[in-house]
Amino acid sequence: MQTSNSKKMIAFVFAMQEEQQGLERQLQNKEVLIRGKRRYLTGSLWGQECVCVLSGIGKVAAASTVTSLIENFKVGSIVLIGVAGAADDALKIGDIVIATTLVQHDMDASPLFPRFEIPLTGISHLSTDVALSRQLGDAADFFLENDHENHVSDAAIAQFNLQNVKIHHGLIASGDQFINDRQVLAGLKRDLPGLLAVEMEGAAIAQVCHDFEIPFAILRTISDDAGEHADYNFSQFIIEVAAQYSLGILHNFCRQQQKT
Ligand code: ADE
Repeated sequence: MQTSNSKKMIAFVFAMQEEQQGLERQLQNKEVLIRGKRRYLTGSLWGQECVCVLSGIGKVAAASTVTSLIENFKVGSIVLIGVAGAADDALKIGDIVIATTLVQHDMDASPLFPRFEIPLTGISHLSTDVALSRQLGDAADFFLENDHENHVSDAAIAQFNLQNVKIHHGLIASGDQFINDRQVLAGLKRDLPGLLAVEMEGAAIAQVCHDFEIPFAILRTISDDAGEHADYNFSQFIIEVAAQYSLGILHNFCRQQQKT
């Protein structure tokens, strides 16, 4: 399935089906490859050669999917898009976070290694690719300025209070845990200064991309406050808001890639 310009191919990864709703319909010249229980879709999205895949939820699922992406498709870069819980009071539901660094909040081999450090690497925080993240941020910015109201219904904007949506850049923490406990969240905020959001895949993808030296970027829409009611309206928010953001932002991102 490798093509002659496969080095330039961009991979788009989503954890949940709801997060990539509507994307498959936009894919031109679609081909499907099933590997390791994942369905890899290659084709062209708004002129950009790409492979799209649903990783499933959690760090292992994300890591195995991305390893397979790198080995089988020789992708040039990887972009993860989805939702996250807010870990900073400045973030509202519907805001966007672009990761600058990622950490595995459940990595703890102490006292052998410092808490959060990936054993034998000396690293706890992994950085995203600056240029790719900037392109993703520009695409998100353009979407919020020009397209937001076309993609999200008035009812959803009112229900989720999506006026004045902002983009934030900073630290995302990942772990195999859906955080819905204010006390657990407070502990993570205390132990990880600058933490903006929590999710379940990003730092695993960061580690694989670091090992293979593949540039990657991560964009998350805030779906909840990681508190006791984090699961309320979760699926509805993803379908009516986050998936619409993803489509609009990827549209801008892919078109922009043609110019670079
Ligand atoms: N993804 C979206 N919300 C989340 C949360 N509260 N915890 C972990 N992953 C999430």
